[in-house]
Amino acid sequence: MNKQQLVATIIGEKKNPTKQIGEAFAPANIALCKYWGKRNEQLNLPVTNSLSISLGNRGTNTRIEINTSGYDEIILNGKLVTREHKFYSNLISFLNLFRPDGICFKVITDSNIPIAAGVASSASGFAATIKALNDLFAWQLSEQKLSILARLGSGSASRSLWHGFVEWEAGKDTDGLDSFAKPLPYVWPELRIGLLLFSTEQKSISSRQAMAATVNNCPYYSLWPSRVEFAITYMKKAIIERDFVKFGQVLESNALEMHALMLATTPPIMYSNADTIAGMQAVWLARSNGVAVYFTQDAGPNLKLLFLQKDEEVIKKLFPRVELVEPWDDRCI
Ligand code: DP6
Repeated sequence: MNKQQLVATIIGEKKNPTKQIGEAFAPANIALCKYWGKRNEQLNLPVTNSLSISLGNRGTNTRIEINTSGYDEIILNGKLVTREHKFYSNLISFLNLFRPDGICFKVITDSNIPIAAGVASSASGFAATIKALNDLFAWQLSEQKLSILARLGSGSASRSLWHGFVEWEAGKDTDGLDSFAKPLPYVWPELRIGLLLFSTEQKSISSRQAMAATVNNCPYYSLWPSRVEFAITYMKKAIIERDFVKFGQVLESNALEMHALMLATTPPIMYSNADTIAGMQAVWLARSNGVAVYFTQDAGPNLKLLFLQKDEEVIKKLFPRVELVEPWDDRCI
C-alpha cells in the first residue's frame, strides 16, 4: 500500500468541498519516550510506540481556503512562502494526497512555536492541516483516522490530535491502518514545561534523515526498541503514581539514549551545541541542589525542561531565558 491508496481507504473518493474555508488548531507535542526509527519510510510507520505530552495553547492554527486564482498560496506567520522553500514543497505534497482535480488552496498558517528547530512545529502543522481539511471537505472522520492521515505528513503529527498525554501505537500491519495515536486517560495538572531555546535556525540535518541514518548505520540501534518499550511501561506507572522523580529519570534517559545512538552512528550526528551542553549541566547542578528538574531534547539543540508548578519560581531564577508552558488547561482536564 502506498500513501495515496491509504488515503483512498480512509476518505474514499475525492469530492469537491461544499464550503470555502476550513480551519483548525493543533497543539505541538514533545515526546517523553521518543519515536526514533521507521519500519516503513513511505508510510511513516515507526519501529516502536512513543509517548508525548502536548503543549497546551502552543501550536499551529491553519486556515485552508479554496483559491480561485488558479494556483496554491501558503502564508506562514504572515509571510508568503516561496515555491523554493522546503516548507512549501512539504506542505504541497501533503495537500496533493487529498486534492480533488482542479482545486487550488490558499493556506494561512500561524505557529506560536519556532519552525524546524526540534520544537515539534511540523507535528502541530500537519495535525492542524489535516483537521482543517476535515473541516473543509466535511469528511467527519474520527480523531483516530485523522491521526493516521496526519502521520503521513510527519510521524510525530499523529500525536498532535489531542491535548495531554498521548501514546502512538506502532501497530503491526503493513498498510499502517493500525498505527495511530490515542489519548491516555491521565492528568497531572502540576506538571510544567520550560522551553530553553538556544537556536531557532533550521536543523543541519532533518530528523527524517537522521532517523534513517541511525537505523542503518548505528551498531546499537537493535537495543533501542526494547529500551523504549521498557521506558513507556515505566513512565505510565510513574504518571499514575505521580512519582515525578521516576517520571523525570525515564524521560531524560530516553532522550540521552536517543542522542547517544546518533553519536554512535557513522558518520556521527550531533544536534547539541555548547549551549545545549551547558544547559544539561545546569539541570544536573540544580538537581544536585535539590531542585527536581529534568530535560529532554529532540532533533535540535534546544532543551525542554520538565518540573512541577511548585518549582516554577526557582526554575525562572536558574534559567532566566526559559519560556514556560502550561500543558494542562480546561481543554484537557
Ligand atoms: C526526535 O516526526 O519529525 O522529535 O516522521 O520523518 O516526519 P518524520 O519525523 P518526525 O520525528 C520526530 C523525532 C523526535 C521524537 C518524537 O517526536 O517522538
